[in-house]
Amino acid sequence: MNPLNHVAIIMDGNGRWGVKNKNSRNLGHKEGLFAVEKIIKQTIKRDIKYLTLFAFSTENWKRPNIEIAYLFKLLEKFLKEKLSELDKQNIKLKIIGRRKFSLKLNKILEEAEKITFNNTKLQINLALNYGSKNELIDGIKLLNKKNEKITIKNISNNLYTKNIPDPDILIRTGNTKRLSNFLLWQLAYTEIFFEKKLWPDFNEKDYDKIIKKYKSIKRNFGNI
Ligand code: IPE
Ligand code: IPE
Ligand code: MG
Repeated sequence: MNPLNHVAIIMDGNGRWGVKNKNSRNLGHKEGLFAVEKIIKQTIKRDIKYLTLFAFSTENWKRPNIEIAYLFKLLEKFLKEKLSELDKQNIKLKIIGRRKFSLKLNKILEEAEKITFNNTKLQINLALNYGSKNELIDGIKLLNKKNEKITIKNISNNLYTKNIPDPDILIRTGNTKRLSNFLLWQLAYTEIFFEKKLWPDFNEKDYDKIIKKYKSIKRNFGNI
């Protein structure tokens, strides 16, 4: 059985779910938060130590301002309402991505990271304004500045995900088979699961099915 330390998820399909069920993309984003809560709970239940959630990509700035504003309001509200509960559940929150948000949101994010810093049950990495190509550029710049040699280890140690093991599982919901600039370096040997369901419909059972399948896969890492 394969050990399972880290699950990464591209939570795709909120917009389509919203249009189909509530005639509004934004209400699909709102609904998506229920799936986030379910999956966090199940991740703890399965004793998985890292969960990385793709919430907003560097490319998502191309969307209409109204949708972007709604997404960030939703995030703000979620953190305000749920932070103490997350903290109580011993969850550590880390933001990965370039931090270019409003002063208010920056403060909320910093506060959330600070409050939960010493928590040990589960680490949630929230990918916000995250792009893998930017991450590599930022990392290589840092490495240059410190005059470090270009090695696999040094590159890994200068990414936003430093000290976090690479994902064992990547799940993308929403019936689309692409990586959309997510964790390109870290996913080198990850088992990838593309899920037809839209994110708000994704539930614990779907998650458990993937975990079960993952556990039985023969992972070679180049060996035989
Ligand atoms: C993913 O859902 C969530 C974000 C990108 C914030 P989408 O909003 O991309 O939903 P679809 O793919 O348009 O249905
Ligand atoms: C990926 O979904 C980003 C997030 C889930 C946050 P997108 O819906 O933005 O991806 P593309 O543009 O369809 O590839
Ligand atoms: Mg999408």
